[in-house]
Amino acid sequence: PSGALWGGRFAGGPADALAELSRSTHFDWRLARHDLAGSRAHARVLHSAGLLDDDQLAGMLAALDALDADVASGAFVPGPADEDVHSALERGLIERAGADLGGRLRAGRSRNDQIATLIRMYLRDQARHLAGRVLDVADALVAQADAAGTAAMPGRTHLQHAQPVLLAHHLLAHVWPLLRDVRRWRDWDRRAAVSPYGSGALAGSSLGLDPAAVAAELGFDAPVENSIDGTAARDVVAEFAFVAAMVGVDLSRLAEEVILWATKELGFVRLDDAYSTGSSIMPQKKNPDVAELARGKAGRMIGDLTGLLATLKGLPLAYNRDLQEDKEPVFDQVDTLDVLLPAVAGMVATLRFDTERMADLAPQGFALATDVAEWLVRQGVPFRVAHEVAGACVTVCEQRGIELWDLSDADLAAISPALTPQVREVLSVGGSLASRSAVGGTAPDRVAEQLRAARTEVDRL
Ligand code: ARG
Repeated sequence: PSGALWGGRFAGGPADALAELSRSTHFDWRLARHDLAGSRAHARVLHSAGLLDDDQLAGMLAALDALDADVASGAFVPGPADEDVHSALERGLIERAGADLGGRLRAGRSRNDQIATLIRMYLRDQARHLAGRVLDVADALVAQADAAGTAAMPGRTHLQHAQPVLLAHHLLAHVWPLLRDVRRWRDWDRRAAVSPYGSGALAGSSLGLDPAAVAAELGFDAPVENSIDGTAARDVVAEFAFVAAMVGVDLSRLAEEVILWATKELGFVRLDDAYSTGSSIMPQKKNPDVAELARGKAGRMIGDLTGLLATLKGLPLAYNRDLQEDKEPVFDQVDTLDVLLPAVAGMVATLRFDTERMADLAPQGFALATDVAEWLVRQGVPFRVAHEVAGACVTVCEQRGIELWDLSDADLAAISPALTPQVREVLSVGGSLASRSAVGGTAPDRVAEQLRAARTEVDRL
C-alpha cells in the first residue's frame, strides 16, 4: 500500500518524484501531538453524533492514547510512504485499532481543516513560550538599569552626541518595545483562539458534528464563522510571523548598540567571557558573536515573514496546496528565537559597563547646548533667539578648542547679556539630567519611577 489517503479513482500510486515533492513529514511531524489531541476531540463529536458507539469510542481513544505514547517516546515515526503528519498518524491508528475502527475517524474532517487548526494550536503554545523568553531579556535589561543607578551616558541622534541621558533610561528604552512585542502576541492570541476544525475540506460537515465542542476541547474560544475562511486563511500565521520578526528586529537594535559599545573606540561595555568568542588566529580578540548573530538572525526572520506573505498573496479560495509552505517559515522563526533569546538574555545580564568613561563622554560634543537654550527660554528669551545664542556659544568654543563650561562670565556676557553666570546651573551633566523632569524624561526621579513601572510590567505580563 502506498500509504496515500485516497485510491478509489486512481489506477496506481504517485510517481516517486511527486512523493518526494509532496512529503512534509520532515517538518510537520512536530504537530503530531496536536493532531492526536484533535483526533480525540473529533472522535468524541463522532460519538455524540451517533457515528461511533460507546465501545467504538473507547477503542478509538485507547488506540489514540497508545499512539500518542509511541509518538512521545519515538517508537512511532513517519515512514517514507507517509505524505504528511496526518497520513502517518492514520497509518499508526489503523495499526493499533484495526482497519474497520481506525478507518472511521476520518469521517467529517479533512486535512484542510485539520492543518489549519493544528498550526494555530502549535503557534499559540509557542507564542506563550517565546513571550516568556522575551520577558527574560526584558528582565535582564531592567536589572542592568537598576544596577546603573544614576550613571550618565552620551545620548545620541544620528549617532552623534545629542544630550546626556541616564544609562538606565537608555536601557529601559529597549525594554518597552520588547514588552509591546509580548503584548502583541497576547492580542494575537485572541484572534488565533478560533478553531477551523469542522470546516471539512471547505464547505463544512454534513454529519451533524459539533465544531463548538471540538473548539472547546482544544482550548479555543469558538469555531470559525466561515468554513471557507477557516481552511483558506493564514493571516493568523502571518501575524505571528510579524511579531516574531519584530522581536528579531528589536533584539537586533539592541545588539547593534552592544557591538558599538564594545569597540575600543567607545569602550562603554565589556562582554563576559561566557558570552563572547575568540579568534582562531588573533590571540587578543574578544568578539560580540551573540549580538552579531542576533543582528544576522533578524534578517533571516524578516525573510521568513516576507516569504510567507508572498506565498499567500495570489491564492484563490479555498485550500490550495501552496499553503503547505506556511509552516517552515514560522517553524524556522520559532527555532531561531528559541536559541537566540536565552543567549541574548545571558549576554545582557553579564554586561559590565564602564560608567566612568560614559560619564566623561556624556557632556562632550557640546551636548549641553540645548540646556543653555532652554535655560534662556526659562528666563523669558524667545526660543529662536535662545537657539542662536547657544549656537554662538558653541562657535566660540569650537574656535578656541574649549567646552561650554570653560566660557568665562565675560565670554558669556559678550555673546549675550541674557547669559548671566546663573546659566552654569545647567552646564553640568547632573543639572542637565535633573532639568528633564517631565513624565518620560531622563531626570533621575522620573527614571526611578519608570524603572518601577517596567519591573511591574515584566512581572505582570
Ligand atoms: N500537508 C498539507 C498542508 O500542510 C495538509 C493538507 C493537505 N490537503 C490536501 N488536500 N492535499 O497544508
